[in-house]
Amino acid sequence: MATHKLLLLPGDGIGPEVMAEVQRLVDWLNATGLAHFETERGLVGGAAYDAHKVAISEADMGKAKAADAVIFGAVGGPKWDGVPYDVRPEAGLLRLRKELGLFANLRPAVCYPALAEASSLKREAVEGLDIVIVRELTGGVYFGEPKTITDLGNGQKRAVDTQVYDTYEIERIARVAFDLARKRRNKVTSMEKRNVMKTGVLWNEVVTKVHDRDYKDVALEHQLADSGGMNLVKAPKQFDVIVTDNLFGDMLSDIAAMLTGSLGMLPSASLGEIDAKSGKRKALYEPVHGSAPDIAGKGLANPIAMIASFAMALRYSFDMGELADKLEGAIAEVLKSGLRTADIKSERGASASTAQMGEAIINELDKLSA
Ligand code: IPM
Ligand code: MN
Repeated sequence: MATHKLLLLPGDGIGPEVMAEVQRLVDWLNATGLAHFETERGLVGGAAYDAHKVAISEADMGKAKAADAVIFGAVGGPKWDGVPYDVRPEAGLLRLRKELGLFANLRPAVCYPALAEASSLKREAVEGLDIVIVRELTGGVYFGEPKTITDLGNGQKRAVDTQVYDTYEIERIARVAFDLARKRRNKVTSMEKRNVMKTGVLWNEVVTKVHDRDYKDVALEHQLADSGGMNLVKAPKQFDVIVTDNLFGDMLSDIAAMLTGSLGMLPSASLGEIDAKSGKRKALYEPVHGSAPDIAGKGLANPIAMIASFAMALRYSFDMGELADKLEGAIAEVLKSGLRTADIKSERGASASTAQMGEAIINELDKLSA
């Protein structure tokens, strides 16, 4: 059996706690012989700042580039609010995305039937929801230059962020969305703001061209990103695959997360281009939730988004789709059994700790694998 190299970057806040559940799972997979992983660890975000005064060290960047997949926890927290902008915790994550070329961010929002009550929306609106947001991840306003604050000398300052997209960046993310839709319900909704943004005009034009040239069999629809956001909370089941830019994707995926009951449920995969020679692609897997400093260290965090992100790694980096199906099935079974961490609990009563949830998922996986 092939050995796969993982780099675990737990990060800050609840990152280490939820990562401990991935480590538990990896140890179990290795012990049962279902897979073989070698794991290394590194520091990112505030943890890296405290140790090295940077958001990620050169040594850990090197490890990330050498790994078959990076498993990422979360970064940030009030402790680092005052650190210089260049070395703020989030800079570590952005550097990983940029230097590994992880342009395609897949954020599936699936509402487990057992959790329909935990959503702030009515059960009918979200039960059975299964959509994927495909977020462009290495372009747009996150990385565009200039990105500056200038002192105008008259008591005023001017801040500039730049939203830039080139044709090739839109083409390649559109392809990811159309390819994915073909394996699902064959529908893509593209979201931009062509009514106020030039990048929106180009986005719309390029997505349409890619569709008309190579993906006529897939249904394509365009929505302005603001009304798209409204539709996401009004009638989310109309969507299959949503493709959108870096900033809109960030916002829309937090909305989509809440449809599923909790931000603690949503996994994500950030993928690079497939290398023509090796057939491999760089990849990083992370929960959509943040570091939740308010509950960090208390064993309250929901590890499901982190564990489901690892399931995406099995599927997209290691061609272990069957094992990924079982792991996702184990999560569904555990939820069905009624076990809940605090964030997804709707009635009163004791809630499960991070570790109890992690253990229960492994026990269920054990049964499904027997
Ligand atoms: C996310 C996060 C990041 C982003 C932050 C931590 C930089 O919110 O992955 O959604 O804005 O992309
Ligand atoms: Mn976000």
